[in-house]
Amino acid sequence: MKPDDLKSPFTWDERRVCYEDRVLYVPEHYDKVSEFKFPGWSGLFGSDKPLMVEYCSGNGHWIVERAKNFPQFNWIAIEKKFVRVRKIWSKLKNEGLDNLIAVCGEGKKVSAHFFSHGTVAEAFINFPDPWPKKRHIKNRIIQPPFVSELYRILGDDGKVNLVTDDPDYSNWMIAVMQGHTGFKSDFPAPFYQVDQDGYGSSWFDELWRSKGKQIRYHSFSKL
Ligand SMILES: C[S@@+](CC[C@H](N)C(=O)[O-])C[C@H]1O[C@@H](n2cnc3c(N)ncnc32)[C@H](O)[C@@H]1O
Repeated sequence: MKPDDLKSPFTWDERRVCYEDRVLYVPEHYDKVSEFKFPGWSGLFGSDKPLMVEYCSGNGHWIVERAKNFPQFNWIAIEKKFVRVRKIWSKLKNEGLDNLIAVCGEGKKVSAHFFSHGTVAEAFINFPDPWPKKRHIKNRIIQPPFVSELYRILGDDGKVNLVTDDPDYSNWMIAVMQGHTGFKSDFPAPFYQVDQDGYGSSWFDELWRSKGKQIRYHSFSKL
């Protein structure tokens, strides 16, 4: 399967929430999400394994490897751009992975509609767009309302893993996560590590490492 083999199931005017061939579509600028009869994640996966959720999955390099290496979990890749969801889809089809589903949609909206309280084991965000300019900071995915949403959907031993090459975004992540009383850093000050054995690698991880950038890993546990 090639990425282009995945065709959008609707035109813009006909957009709707739907699930087809291992992709859940949650269109932006569409508010009738509740009309979709969601069978639950165990209904879509056909199994009831703990859920691992990655936001901002890009081309899916990291999560496809995780799903292959950790079949005891069900993995969900949330990515808002269809051109990238196609790449995740072609990888998961070619690998024959039955424990990975791609969601074409915006992270906070998908969470609000499709994850109930305490249902996610772990959440991951690898190299989210840093939006370095001051006036664009509002576009960062790590914001207090999103962190509250993560707190709601995570189970009791839930964890949030955040990875970035951008020191300013790293400081922002730490401040926002520590601003929520329900999370505690798993790492002592400065609240990140520059290496994490066995974490896996994404497309942006490889890019920034090849340019000599330092990578920061953050891990926060639900209290
Ligand atoms: C810099 S890329 C990183 C991709 C991948 N995680 C990696 O490490 O190679 C950021 C990705 O996040 C996606 N994205 C940004 N904001 C998002 C949001 N609110 N919900 C879902 N995806 C988002 C972008 O479309 C892009 O593919």
